[in-house]
Amino acid sequence: MNNVRKDFPWITKHPKLLYFDSAATSLKPQSVIDAISNYYINYGTNTHNSDSAIAFKTTSKVQAIRNKTAKLFNAKASNIVFTSGATEGLNLIAYGIANGFIKPKQEVLISKLEHASNLLPWIRLAKQGCFKLKYVDEGKIPTAESYLKAITRNTKVIAFAGSSNILGNNIDYVTLVKQAKKLNPNIIIVMDAAQYLPHHKIDVTCGIDFIACSCHKLLGPTGLGIVYMADKWLSLLQPLKYGGGMNQSIDKENYVLYNNVDKFEGGTLPLAQIFGWEAAIDYLNKIGFNNISKYQHDLKKYFVKQLAQIKNIVVYNKQEPEAIIYFNINKVHAQDLASWLGTKGVICRAGLSCAKLAHHIIKTQAAVRLSLYFYNTKEEIDKFVKLLKKFKKGDEIIL
Ligand SMILES: Cc1ncc(COP(=O)(O)O)c(C=O)c1O
Repeated sequence: MNNVRKDFPWITKHPKLLYFDSAATSLKPQSVIDAISNYYINYGTNTHNSDSAIAFKTTSKVQAIRNKTAKLFNAKASNIVFTSGATEGLNLIAYGIANGFIKPKQEVLISKLEHASNLLPWIRLAKQGCFKLKYVDEGKIPTAESYLKAITRNTKVIAFAGSSNILGNNIDYVTLVKQAKKLNPNIIIVMDAAQYLPHHKIDVTCGIDFIACSCHKLLGPTGLGIVYMADKWLSLLQPLKYGGGMNQSIDKENYVLYNNVDKFEGGTLPLAQIFGWEAAIDYLNKIGFNNISKYQHDLKKYFVKQLAQIKNIVVYNKQEPEAIIYFNINKVHAQDLASWLGTKGVICRAGLSCAKLAHHIIKTQAAVRLSLYFYNTKEEIDKFVKLLKKFKKGDEIIL
């Protein structure tokens, strides 16, 4: 794994910095950056147009990349929608469901660990009276069983993060989907996979309805996301965006939309990003998702063990598998500590990192998040621990 570092120009350019913020966005290998240029230099044309050989080539390439993307989900290309990111994807899903597939008395079940993107669309629609919002409310990190226990006959939607952006816990989505659909085959299940897909492939054959994620969190460019939607939703769900490329016909008072993924991709696609994304998939497949997660789980265990040397530290997610450390030093404000770490070259984040209800579960208003990916090393962890050992209360006051 240590060989991979040379593939990331950011790491070469910033040899003194510790990049511990991959849950916010991952670094990009050179091959992804080159693939973006390749689009502009060798393709350059738009899709939805086959009038020239070169435009046809662009359209075919995008279809091939859609196919490659589908394999990450064990899905068909015809179920993969390109979006601008997980946020757009989750809005598309929530607004689509609210538009005719849920009644005001029915419930959307979510947890207090959700990222704002899987929280705000549901809160807004509940405020408009589209449905009731129900929280899994056990005061602990939710599991598949927590959601299953909370299902009532009014539950219509379960919307959950496959992996939390602050704790790095995983939800056993296969059990959740299968058991929930056994209780009620009409329950709609939505997975926010923004933090899950960077570490694991997904298998939609369990019967999940929707998945949303962002490509920039797993080596891809910013501005591109993916929604997987099961077959039946392609014709049922209404799009979020209306424009070119998604309609069959328009007359003065009406229109007919496509009944396939094109319906959800109004406007010009982020083509350069899609080309870059292909290189990201190739890179991840070359290493192998199993190797990535095994290496990261090992990094996490090592990190937790080394942090035991730090006095007055509280780590909130020692047991959770993904390589995220969420911690505080007693009596030091997390934001101050993160700023101090920033002055020492550690790129990390403080606060609740968009999961603003998480304090109900982890009983802190803020903590420092260190999030690692497979390009991080044990040597970097050692460097960090050495630095943190030097920290004394008061150092964080930067004048
Ligand atoms: C769990 C989770 N969901 C959704 C998002 C939103 O992703 P984006 O900002 O790329 O749309 C994030 C981003 O941090 C996330 O961690």
